[in-house]
Amino acid sequence: MSHQDPMHRKHDAQRRRVLQATARLGCLGQFGGLAATPLLMGSTPRAFAAEPTRDAMRDVTRDTARDAATEPRIVSIHGSLTEVFYLLEAQHMLVGTDTTSTHPAAANRTPKVGYLRQLSAEGLLSLKPNAVLGTDEAGPPAVLAQLRQAGVPLRLVNVKHRFEDLIEKVRLVGEATRRQAAAQALSADLNKRWQATQQKVARRDGASANHAGQAPSVLFIMAHGPAPMLAGSGTGAHAMLTYAGARNAMAEVQGWRALNAESAVQARPDWIVTTQESVAALGGLRQFWALPGLEMTPAGRRQRVLSFDTMALLGFGPRMPDALEELRQGLA
Ligand code: HEM
Repeated sequence: MSHQDPMHRKHDAQRRRVLQATARLGCLGQFGGLAATPLLMGSTPRAFAAEPTRDAMRDVTRDTARDAATEPRIVSIHGSLTEVFYLLEAQHMLVGTDTTSTHPAAANRTPKVGYLRQLSAEGLLSLKPNAVLGTDEAGPPAVLAQLRQAGVPLRLVNVKHRFEDLIEKVRLVGEATRRQAAAQALSADLNKRWQATQQKVARRDGASANHAGQAPSVLFIMAHGPAPMLAGSGTGAHAMLTYAGARNAMAEVQGWRALNAESAVQARPDWIVTTQESVAALGGLRQFWALPGLEMTPAGRRQRVLSFDTMALLGFGPRMPDALEELRQGLA
């Protein structure tokens, strides 16, 4: 499954829905004069006064100077949070992002501060942020301590691998960017689409059972770092498989484990789910199937593999409802 193009189209559609919903709520004034789109600028009455008087002009200049002085300078150290900035049209407040911030494509052009689990304090501090937003997966701890010592407010979402994490992320970005109304509209939209997919899972719409009449069992493999890993319980991958009505074939182990042939064969998965970045890092699907033990599994014999954009499926960001729907359909 390639998510790239459909997901980009969905991003635009979602951004439009948030803006429309916010307009219906009559909250456009909250976007202030800093908003990027003409639609939002037009909603700021002062900016559109037909013939501004000299006094009014002075007021505008003073306000603009004040806004510039208090303009948030935020570093996002999680791709899911970065996506929310773009959906709330607050991306100009981002002075830096981490390497999991790959969506939308424009996020790749922001200054980078490293991988969220291996941040460097120097890179981060050089961007002079007045806030750093992330999750409690961020590290290493020594770097977080350095940031706190330097007086940079660090706001980290507590990751529980639940849909509610996403709602908390939207709330956090809405608050940090002072776009609470748009954030509420986005949350309502995400919630609606999440519930719709959850209902399909509950009804087992299209869900395939394996030959034993059970929910399909899935081995989740991620190969971003030095060694391929299998997802056990307590991981984001396990949570997404469970939300999709599948069984994690490695549920008896806790956390991520190095892949070995014995575990893969014993797990007897009906399907293998992985990330597009893993397949690319290994050099393609042929090399993927050459990983130890995979070809000897029921999934391997039938070449059943689904690959997803990592942050869409495991980031617990705004693409989560779409990713769940695609996973559900893929396993059907
Ligand atoms: C330098 C290369 C990388 C290394 C060494 C690395 C290492 C790791 C490790 C060790 C974990 C497991 C953490 C745990 O046990 O809680 C992990 C999880 C994760 N990584 Fe990476 N990673 C790398 C690159 C990436 C990239 C480029 C992305 C995204 C585009 C990414 C996205 C994720 C996600 C979303 C998880 C959480 C998965 C879950 O719990 O379901 N990683 N990574």
